Amino acid sequence: MAFYITTAISYVNGAPHLGHAYEAIATDVIARHMRQRNEDVFFLTGTDEHGEPVADAAKDQGVTPQVLADENAARFRALLPQLDVSNDFFIRTTDAEHHRRVQEVLRRVHDNGFTYKGLYEGWYCPKCADFKVENEILDGNRCPIHEIALTREQEENWFFRLSAFQGRLEQLYAEQPAFVMPLQRFNEARAFVTSGLQDVSLSRARMNWGVTVPWDPSHVFYVWFDALLNYYTALGYARPGDDLTDRYWPANFHVIGKDILKFHTVFWPAMLMAAELPTPAHVFVHGFLLGADGRKMSKSLGNVLDPFEVLDEFGTDALRFYLMRDVQFGSDGPVGMEQVTVRYEAELANEYGNLASRTLAMLQRYRDGRVPEVDTDPALAESFAGLADDVVDLIDAAEVTGALELIWQRVRRCNRYVEERAPWQLARDPERAAELDQVLASLAEGIRALSVLLCAYIPVSARRLLDALRADDTRVEAAAFAARGSGATVSALAPLFPKR
Ligand code: MF3
Repeated sequence: MAFYITTAISYVNGAPHLGHAYEAIATDVIARHMRQRNEDVFFLTGTDEHGEPVADAAKDQGVTPQVLADENAARFRALLPQLDVSNDFFIRTTDAEHHRRVQEVLRRVHDNGFTYKGLYEGWYCPKCADFKVENEILDGNRCPIHEIALTREQEENWFFRLSAFQGRLEQLYAEQPAFVMPLQRFNEARAFVTSGLQDVSLSRARMNWGVTVPWDPSHVFYVWFDALLNYYTALGYARPGDDLTDRYWPANFHVIGKDILKFHTVFWPAMLMAAELPTPAHVFVHGFLLGADGRKMSKSLGNVLDPFEVLDEFGTDALRFYLMRDVQFGSDGPVGMEQVTVRYEAELANEYGNLASRTLAMLQRYRDGRVPEVDTDPALAESFAGLADDVVDLIDAAEVTGALELIWQRVRRCNRYVEERAPWQLARDPERAAELDQVLASLAEGIRALSVLLCAYIPVSARRLLDALRADDTRVEAAAFAARGSGATVSALAPLFPKR
């Protein structure tokens, strides 16, 4: 089945940072896992290049918005392979094809009677590109996210009749209890809807950095509608000559941060309804990564974790593992270099890495590298029963941290099994050769099954171990613990997570 998953697209007013890497990695874990389930996956990410956030930053730097956008879009694009992110396309909202399709969809919204021209007056944050409603505003008319003073804006704009969708949005929330996950965010979004919807700006007359409003060319579309539509427009031109829209729309999963909830869970479905397009199945909302001190990361507090430093010191798989493991996906949580070091040493190196190297070394030493073709130990098989199904269920709810925890419990179980069965003692006693066969076959099977499930999280290391085991089936189905050893001849493997 088709599975279409997206990240939010990043503003190009600055360089990529940890928050961008975090979202891209989490989304990638889900995309890779779905491919392992033989789903027909399309994974989209990209950059959001219009509006004040970019125009203002360009002005400050004395360059045109296009120059700034080109420079930073290239940095965002370059980050993805460094993270082993397996996106199928990278959209830039400055793409001519995106412009054309935004105009087409929003013209339909206009033709359907959901727009009108009116005077807008309200509090505006130029960094969010967002008109704030009264109950979001901090004392002194400040932005709840940036804490900067909001500007009072008054402008003749085109409006979108969001209020006309009050009933249909209430119905969406009543019928699709998993439209927004986790539940806390669902409740927040639904409360926003039920508190009563006001119409919102659809265009800006004073901006020119954006997509032109086709029926009133002195205006450009408000950046959020241009940006949200990326999820839809990309399918039309990602594969020249092959329109993917029917194959993948509506999206299964939009992964976003909690600061852009309102846009994705209220404005976006309403806009799609106005254009007579189907709405997405799920919006998954993740939290914020905080400094190790639990405060918001900021250069002045000196609590910023730099993803490039982690990549240099520990490698891509370690960064991916750390971010998925240390902060419960969906919640806020602190991160720091010290915790990265602890997870690397205690878990990747001493638990998974060590389990892999001692299993392979014992197979080498005691059985010439051959996995004995004997029945595996029911006691270990028992600990793996239902694991792959549970991982599948958790990933369906974007619970990437929970799924990794279940996998890791079995990594620990296998290490305890080694201690309990002490194969080095069995090896000393020729009469216990059959027992040793069984222990070795069971451990080889354990690390194989675990590595299949870990492919989504630490693709390079898990693959290396599977290669050493001569096990090339990475489908989730293949993560079932087999009743017999494989008979394969395994090869030696340099430490997956070397001591630094
Ligand atoms: N650029 C916005 C931000 O970084 C997110 C846009 S996601 C979108 O906050 F798809 F709606 F565009």
